[in-house]
Amino acid sequence: MRLDGGVSESFDTVDIIRAKRDRQELTSEQIAWTIDAYTRGVVADEQMSALAMAILLNGMNRREIGDWTAAMIASGERMDFGSLSRPTADKHSTGGVGDKITLPLAPLVAACGVAVPQLSGRGLGHTGGTLDKLESIPGWRADLSNEEMLAQLEDVGAVICAAGSGLAPADKRLYALRDVTGTVEAIPLIASSIMSKKIAEGTGALVLDVKVGSGAFMKDRDQATELARTMVELGTDAGVHTVALLTDMSVPLGLTAGNALEVRESVEVLAGGGPADVVELTLALAREMLAGAGKDDIDPADALTDGRAMDAWRAMISAQGGDPDAELPRAAETQQVTADADGVLTRLDAFQVGVAAWRLGAGRARKEDPVQAGAGVEWHARPGDAVQVGQPLLTLHTDTPDRFDRALEALDGAWQIAPDHTAYTSSALIVDRIAAP
Ligand code: URA
Repeated sequence: MRLDGGVSESFDTVDIIRAKRDRQELTSEQIAWTIDAYTRGVVADEQMSALAMAILLNGMNRREIGDWTAAMIASGERMDFGSLSRPTADKHSTGGVGDKITLPLAPLVAACGVAVPQLSGRGLGHTGGTLDKLESIPGWRADLSNEEMLAQLEDVGAVICAAGSGLAPADKRLYALRDVTGTVEAIPLIASSIMSKKIAEGTGALVLDVKVGSGAFMKDRDQATELARTMVELGTDAGVHTVALLTDMSVPLGLTAGNALEVRESVEVLAGGGPADVVELTLALAREMLAGAGKDDIDPADALTDGRAMDAWRAMISAQGGDPDAELPRAAETQQVTADADGVLTRLDAFQVGVAAWRLGAGRARKEDPVQAGAGVEWHARPGDAVQVGQPLLTLHTDTPDRFDRALEALDGAWQIAPDHTAYTSSALIVDRIAAP
């Protein structure tokens, strides 16, 4: 027993850091105490930084990751959707460029009879945030109380809102610390961070869209697979029906990256049109969510074509104060980039497009920065498409034209045009599916 400020403590933080530094397994009691003591301010930020680095370097086994996740859940509140008249299913994406899938997906699944409690975040860095996209709709608000969320889930069936500060507060502090200590990339810490929030949220089923490729957090397929497996195990062990799809993020999704631009594209999908890859991924994730909620006899494609998903979208936006008929903001200035050869577009790099959209004002560098609703990048061809010299390849959008040069720098070498199709190999959008054995 240790004394800290007169309060008896069960462990000594330095012993725990040394144990992980020396590749030992931490006990369940050590882990529960560490997270609780960090939340209480007994474990200092510099000590947690050292422990996070030891975890990044030496890893954790399945039992330790499960205990770490459980301790983070225990640091805050748990939501309960047991009173709803329909089952619940949620989706989490590890983030990518042009990834607007949540926008058509949540109302689509709701239109098929499954409630979707989607707690989302704002973007940081080159990937966009779902809340930033929806906030480009005049009047729409992201902050709902737990009671408002529950009522909307019952009435409309879908909610996309900001996660309240009560869910896994230990993660909020730890994530901010990892961000500035080079420890974001530790798979045990990423998996427990994401899953503690999803398990505390109380969804019955969860589908994970784990991105892999240049525009993703995980550039490498083996690492993405390990992350997906770890999260599926955590969800399954916690009684949440969890499946992961590994999906390609070497090419950006759809034809737009930027807030209002992506809302416009999502509405096209809900109207039964939209880019083929966005429709394919939306339907694949919807099928997994419906199956996880016990409704695998329903084909979500029908709800896209017969207007039910659009009705659910309109109801969801209106319920949160938004006007689904309002004109979406457009950037004050645009600049076109044209093809410099005839041939076939063989490559369009997701990361570079994401950085360009971010530099044009669609994203933020610090979490308190504002974003421009109309800013972003539109591309007029996807890899595999034939292009002609002089045709528009990209349109850049911004309210602040002095940003064009830096965006163009980010796009240097981002695409390739080959004389014909022989140099082009198409790659699958859905790379793998990982479920509990
Ligand atoms: N998203 C999270 O919520 N946590 C991480 O650690 C990484 C991505």
